[in-house]
Parts: sequence; structure tokens; C-alpha cells
Amino acid sequence: MEERKILYSAIQPTNNLTIGNYIGPIRNWIALQNDYNCFFAVANMHAITLRQVPAELRQKTLEVLALYIACGVDPEKCVMYVQSHVPAHAELCWVLNTFTYVGEMERMTQFKDKSLRHAENINMGLMDYPVLMAADILLYQTDVVPVGLDQRQHVEIARDIAQRFNNAFTPTFKVPEALYAKVGAKINDLLDPAKKMSKSAENPNGSIFLSDDKDTIIRKCKRAVTDSDAEIKFDPEKKAGVSNLLSIYSAFTGKTIAAAEADFAGKGYGEFKLAVGEAVADKLAPIQTEQARLLADKTYLEGVLRSGAERAARAANKTLSKVYKKIGFYQL
Ligand code: TRP
Repeated sequence: MEERKILYSAIQPTNNLTIGNYIGPIRNWIALQNDYNCFFAVANMHAITLRQVPAELRQKTLEVLALYIACGVDPEKCVMYVQSHVPAHAELCWVLNTFTYVGEMERMTQFKDKSLRHAENINMGLMDYPVLMAADILLYQTDVVPVGLDQRQHVEIARDIAQRFNNAFTPTFKVPEALYAKVGAKINDLLDPAKKMSKSAENPNGSIFLSDDKDTIIRKCKRAVTDSDAEIKFDPEKKAGVSNLLSIYSAFTGKTIAAAEADFAGKGYGEFKLAVGEAVADKLAPIQTEQARLLADKTYLEGVLRSGAERAARAANKTLSKVYKKIGFYQL
């Protein structure tokens, strides 16, 4: 049998995940978990590059894991673990730092962006974020990294660093490829549909969180920005708000955009928005119930994390040991 390819991804346990995180990455993972050997991390080491409330970070770590499982990521098939449980991430990051130039980190879009938004705390970790992410990916000899467009530059840098190291020594790292979802339902902010729906948006009414209850979801959909021409048609340029709601509806019902348009032909925005809200809420309800059930079973979740950390560490340490050997670290 042909060896399965390796897929790696992670989500930071910060803020509340939105329906964008579900429709984008997580749902995609579930589709891919049968075809790849998957590693899914909870990236708590990345999370502390911005200030976190410790108790919340701890709680969100479990919430993200429970969410992965509730959404259908299978702990029998996939390795799920917490980044800080595998010390090799920090260790490889240090080595890769010496193969990364300050100038290229200063030019990273997300670093520049976050530096503007968090001018009071431009710490070294924030700047080093892409190198830690490269370490995550390269430790597992990853073939593919399913990411959204905002992470494209980070995967590019991981490739550059891998190639640089491989060229300086002998091939050590697999050079990973970014994998973009084919059905790229891009979900935008409800109040500012030119922007991606974000878990850290200033106005929480623009985002639907995976933890929102039905009333909240419907209220947010009802307040979503549309336009004044009362036509339910997909046209992201001229009708960004309506198109975004159609994308959400289509993603949550599995219908095509054309079928979604047909569902609402001749109907008003009020009815449309209510239907979008209901579609989202109905789909999320069983996931939320399952997540809550899992969160009440800490023993089970910790068992998943223990076995995940063990399996991840085994794979990661193999790569780290090769790296140490090549760079001349004396090993016992
Ligand atoms: N930076 C990613 C994000 O915020 C999370 C992440 C950390 C990640 N390490 C990764 C994603 C490795 C893919 C691969 O979305």
C-alpha cells in the first residue's frame, strides 16, 4: 500500500471561533482525514504572541479540541494535540531562527498588520510567529497544509526555510505545499462584507461564533448589511452583503449558489435573512451539544491529548534528531 501523505494544520485557541473557521478549515479537514495522515494542533504557543488571559487560554485549549472532535475530526484517525505538549516545536523553531533573516520577517504582511494593531506589544514572538509555524509544519515532514489565503505567505516562508536548510546540508525536510479548499466558500463580516469574518473583529455582531445560540445567530443575520435594491442575487462586487449571506446559506445547506438564489426568488430580505440564520443555527446545534458533552468529559479529552502528544512527539523527534545531527549538535 502506498504511504499516505501527511497533512498538518492548527488553530489558535484565541477568541471565539467563527462559522468561517468551520466552513473553511475544519470542514475541509473532515473531508481530508481519510486520505491523509493528519496532525491537527491547538496552537497555544502561537496564541501567546498576543496577550491572553491565562485561565481563558487554558479553557479555550480544551474547547478547540472538543470542537475538532464535535465537528467530526476522528481521534482514531488523526493526531490531535496541544502544541506546547511537544517541546520539539520550540526546539526546532530555535534552529530555524538561524536560517531566517530579520528583514524577511519584518516584511511579513501579518506581522506588519499585527504590529499596527498591537503597537504596545510588538514582541519578538510576534515577529517569530512564521518561524514557529514553519517548525510546526516541517517537524512532521508535512506534504500539505490546508490554509486560507491569509496564511499563504506563512506557508511560502516555511517552504523557503525548508529549502534553505536542505541546500545548506542534505535534504532533511519535505518541502510542503499549501492546499487551498476547492469549494472556497469565503465568509465575510456581516456588517462589513468587504472584510473576512474574523474571530477578532472589533464588532462581534459582524461575526457568527460557533458558540452563538439560535437567537443570537438570527439576530446577527437580521442586522447584516445588505443594500437597497431588494434582489437576492449573487454579485460579490455590487452586492457584497447579499452575496455573503448567500454564501453562508449555501455552505450550511449544501445547496449551490444558484439553488440558493432560486429558493429566494421574489422574496424579501427579511425572510431571506431569517432563513440564513435558521440554516446556520440548525447545523450548529448538534455540534454545540456534542462539544458541551465532550467538555464535560475531561478525562476523555485529556486521554486524546496524551495519546496525541505521544504520537506527535514520536514523529517530531525523528526530524529534530536529524536536524541536530546535521547542524553539529553533539548528541548522547
Ligand atoms: N497561524 C495559523 C492561524 O492563525 C495557525 C497555525 C499555527 C497553523 N501553526 C500552523 C496553520 C501550522 C497551519 C500550519 O490560522
